Amino acid sequence: MSGELSPIDKAKFAAAKRAAEYVEDGMKVGLGTGSTAAWLVKCLGEMVRDQGLRIKGVPTSTRTADLAREVGIEVISLDEARWLDLTIDGADEFDANLNLIKGGGGAHLQEKVVATASDQMVVITDASKQVETLGAFPLPVEVIPFGWQTTKTLVEETLIGMDVLGRTTSLRMNGDVPFITDEGNHILDLHLNRIGNARQLSLVLNQIPGIVENGLFIDICDAVVIGHGDGKVEVRDINEGTVEESKVDFLENDNLFSDIAD
Ligand code: A5P
Repeated sequence: MSGELSPIDKAKFAAAKRAAEYVEDGMKVGLGTGSTAAWLVKCLGEMVRDQGLRIKGVPTSTRTADLAREVGIEVISLDEARWLDLTIDGADEFDANLNLIKGGGGAHLQEKVVATASDQMVVITDASKQVETLGAFPLPVEVIPFGWQTTKTLVEETLIGMDVLGRTTSLRMNGDVPFITDEGNHILDLHLNRIGNARQLSLVLNQIPGIVENGLFIDICDAVVIGHGDGKVEVRDINEGTVEESKVDFLENDNLFSDIAD
């Protein structure tokens, strides 16, 4: 079954499988959004079913909430949890300091709230998401629908004074209509190519009225788990300053694959 998965899916699975080892009985866990996070949710569902793992999951989107319930994870809201032991999520880009761009799936607002309310945030990813400087991936910015065109103009004017290479912005669409987030907002994608000072940009953007949250995660991520298509996994922990390597055996997980590949 694992043979049917693309190398990139195998890499995402390997990262998710390794990151699931961070989860301990009794934990309250933030569940990320996206294709890599979906593998994690499926792995955790299997641990709940087969190993009796008891966890409470706080999803970062309706998509993840639906999947978590489907695989048997108890779902609670962040308000019920208040604080989490751990959040595991994907990313669109990460740099050497484990600063991130997130929001490619349009869920970065809830993802940032949940990750910030966690003792630890672990990012799961394939190696393609690693960059020297953030910004090749368009930066998602969640804006309220009211006056979004004015907000867009303000963002473009603000970018003139920022250390970035590109300055075009676009409203994210879902077919012919604007994309709507779980919070009922729109998303502007900022095509910046290179972000010279991500910390400054994040602070400045969040000062603009109409912006709810941008997709830069600065000093939030504690560790990154990088999966590869051959099952190799590298774990970089920014607090410990450690790098560990291991390997996920796809054959050992063949049952899991056949259960969860769909
Ligand atoms: C969702 O809004 C994003 O932040 C995702 O975590 C990010 O886009 C990674 O998604 P994939 O795992 O699908 O690449």
